[in-house]
Amino acid sequence: MIYGERIRLRANERADLPCFVEWLNDPEVREGISSYLPLSLAREEQWYENMLKLPRDEQPLGIEIRDEDDTWKLIGNCGFFEFNWRCRSAEVGIFIGQKSIWNKGYGTEVMRLLLKHGFETLNLNRIFLRVYATNLRAIRCYEKAGFVHEGRLRQAEYKHGEYVDFHVMSVLRSEYFGTRT
Ligand SMILES: CC(C)(COP(=O)(O)OP(=O)(O)OC[C@H]1O[C@@H](n2cnc3c(N)ncnc32)[C@H](O)[C@@H]1OP(=O)(O)O)[C@@H](O)C(=O)NCCC(=O)NCCS
Repeated sequence: MIYGERIRLRANERADLPCFVEWLNDPEVREGISSYLPLSLAREEQWYENMLKLPRDEQPLGIEIRDEDDTWKLIGNCGFFEFNWRCRSAEVGIFIGQKSIWNKGYGTEVMRLLLKHGFETLNLNRIFLRVYATNLRAIRCYEKAGFVHEGRLRQAEYKHGEYVDFHVMSVLRSEYFGTRT
């Protein structure tokens, strides 16, 4: 487990898949991510099998928060992908499927924990992400976690009948540690 203040990140389990399917079929959740087609459990099981074949450093992680009755409860998924180990760079992604807990700072906490894991354990030099210019909640969350705006991929996505820009944001190792390394 990777523990934060109010959250922990853990390995994905096969039993999580029905939750992921429900969340990833929710139009409000899907609005912020690249998935745009209905998702079946069979397809998600295929994703899970492929995920298990990745090196363990590259496997995504489930996000849990502690419930009122002191048990850990799954709320979403996150992790690194597009690893380039020579350049020590990776892209990061997140979704919180439990909409009732959006805007409570959990996303920011997850991103800070991923930065810590990425720089202090995986020894990355650059952690970046792409976010729709329309996803203001996510952009604010990433800014709070320390991500810097790098640029804009113009009209890189097509949604609801129009082209949408991506913002590219990143944190460098030197920024994370506050010194030139
Ligand atoms: C994006 C996501 C990870 C953010 O997690 P979260 O826990 O809701 O985020 P946080 O509470 O840490 O931060 C959200 C911030 O955005 C602000 N916000 C919310 N809606 C906003 C809007 N329309 N405009 C500007 N800011 C907004 C919140 O007030 C909060 O800022 P504050 O703490 O300064 O008040 C989560 O909402 C999510 O998973 N959404 C669906 C999937 C998705 O979009 N994933 C991201 C793909 S790039």
